[in-house]
Amino acid sequence: MLNPTEPVITRREPDPVKPVSEEDSLRPHIYDGIQEYDKRLPRWWLYTLYGTIVFAGLYWAYYQAYQFGVAPEHALKMEMAANADTAARKSGNLDDDLLWKMSVDAKVLAAGKVTFETTCASCHKPDLTGMIGPNLVDREWIHGGYPMDAMKTITEGVLAKGMPAWGPLLGKQKISEVAAYIFSHHKTGEQIVPVAGWTMPGAVPAP
Ligand code: HEC
Repeated sequence: MLNPTEPVITRREPDPVKPVSEEDSLRPHIYDGIQEYDKRLPRWWLYTLYGTIVFAGLYWAYYQAYQFGVAPEHALKMEMAANADTAARKSGNLDDDLLWKMSVDAKVLAAGKVTFETTCASCHKPDLTGMIGPNLVDREWIHGGYPMDAMKTITEGVLAKGMPAWGPLLGKQKISEVAAYIFSHHKTGEQIVPVAGWTMPGAVPAP
């Protein structure tokens, strides 16, 4: 209730000496006859600011300092590289580098293993250690020990020695998978020992 004896105040003149309130004090300066209140920043604004500071600290710690997470720019790079690999595989532009990468790709290896066990194991043994066909897990190679050499041998075969040409039967993709499977038993840069041929275990070597 208004007290009828008190005059109704419609407009409050700022008093330059006495602050209007604790929060909104008048600043001492006057420019061009204009005075300013020292307005406090709203709480929501301040909390947003503090929030971003805390977030920046946590983000930095998580991604940069302790590397709990893969930083987005790194994740993007890895994804781009994976896409490039997939595109190269699809385009059929194989090289040693790509086959080595495929040799650590679980999906490729699972497919390569199936092909190996159904098509190759009868001569090379399921554990790849060789029987009619040579050992594929040692470092000795007759036709070259780089992934692309094996691609060529598998595709074209060595008909005179009893290794069939798998190109027409399996196609490039299956051959690349099975080559990747063979090289998953090897390491990049390992020593390659060229040899003239393979003697089946238990067979009498040619004189
Ligand atoms: C009928 C038996 C037979 C089958 C099946 C066979 N291979 Fe062979 N493979 C051979 C023989 C024999 C050689 C050795 C050729 C030589 O002495 O020149 C050979 C050689 C190879 C080599 C070259 C090894 C070297 O030291 O250079 C690779 C790689 C290979 N085979 C992979 C495969 C793959 C992969 C498959 C299945 C898709 C397969 N082979 C199926 C008999 C076979």
